[in-house]
Amino acid sequence: MDALHPDPDQIQQAGAVIRSGGLVAFPTETVYGLGGDGLNPMSSKKIYAAKGRPSDNPLIIHIHQWESMKRLASDLPPEAELLANAFWPGPLTMIVKKTNEVPLETTGGLDTVAVRMPEHPLALAFIEAAGGFVAAPSANRSGKPSPTVAKYVIQDLDGRVDMILDGGEVGIGVESTIVDLTGDTPTILRPGYITEEMLKRVLGAVEADQTMMEKHTDLAPKAPGMKYRHYAPAGEMTLVEGDTKEVAAFINGKICLAKEQGKCCGVLCSEELYPFVEADSKKNVGSRQDELSIARNLYRVLREFDDEGVEVIYAESFSREGFGMAVMNRLLKAAGYHLEKLKLE
Ligand code: TXA
Ligand code: MG
Repeated sequence: MDALHPDPDQIQQAGAVIRSGGLVAFPTETVYGLGGDGLNPMSSKKIYAAKGRPSDNPLIIHIHQWESMKRLASDLPPEAELLANAFWPGPLTMIVKKTNEVPLETTGGLDTVAVRMPEHPLALAFIEAAGGFVAAPSANRSGKPSPTVAKYVIQDLDGRVDMILDGGEVGIGVESTIVDLTGDTPTILRPGYITEEMLKRVLGAVEADQTMMEKHTDLAPKAPGMKYRHYAPAGEMTLVEGDTKEVAAFINGKICLAKEQGKCCGVLCSEELYPFVEADSKKNVGSRQDELSIARNLYRVLREFDDEGVEVIYAESFSREGFGMAVMNRLLKAAGYHLEKLKLE
């Protein structure tokens, strides 16, 4: 299928699969989703089974028009409409109190529901054809990085899904920003392309879940899914922070040692650091000047390390400003929060 000219028959067919209780993987602007009918408890159960996902980890319901929000939300705070006007369709998920129409199977037993209106034209047409309420987690097997191309959906879910809509490579590459609107102050539960600064411009006060960027043993993340060890490559990964020369010297030294032990070594770095490091598998993840390029390549690179049997990975640490926060959140999780700081604070 051509991403820019999706075949309308195929979209209708995909919609019919959802309406009859089946599963369809589809592209969004963030990552590929594994869709089922969000109002059908049996479909949600199928999604959990196909992903191998714990059923206490709630799903996001994807809609194609604002009106649909009113059927899902029992109490619609004014912030929801402000955010929808500013960022929908787009990479933002809102958590609101749910109506009785939303099955507990979809929300992992919670009385709240996560809702998102994606921007991808194929996703919007598919959601409409599917009846308007598509529950979808990312279309990876649980514990794997989210798929950014259909190839990885096939790798993870072939035989477990009724149909895959191929829209080519996604535009953003990391999952949507999640903001919880059920408390006193809107709270970011997962950073994404819509940054804290962008949300503050619309809402004023915004908080961020404390567990987002650091390992906490005493606090549970507010988004149940954030507690699972996500995005982790099979190799042991360490993030390295410091100036370019120091980072290159540190990584090269560590890789020398690991190679002496007979380990297959990988480096994940910016195009700026790339010429200064050596490894069995060296990955240029994008430019430090362009966080979007890093986000778009990140999950593919992590999967490639696994495919190549890389056992030890050193990764460059990036700025946490703006969208950098989302990139660093994924990298920190992939590294199990293992960060070497070379510079003095
Ligand atoms: O960009 C995205 O959001 C992608 C695409 C497919 O739309 N979807 C996605 O879904 O990333 P998933 O299931 O991989 O991540 C959803 C996250 C999980 O961490 C889950 O725990 C959290 O959202 N979540 C869902 N409903 C929630 C709720 N009612 N309260 C708190 N967290 C919730
Ligand atoms: Mg996911």
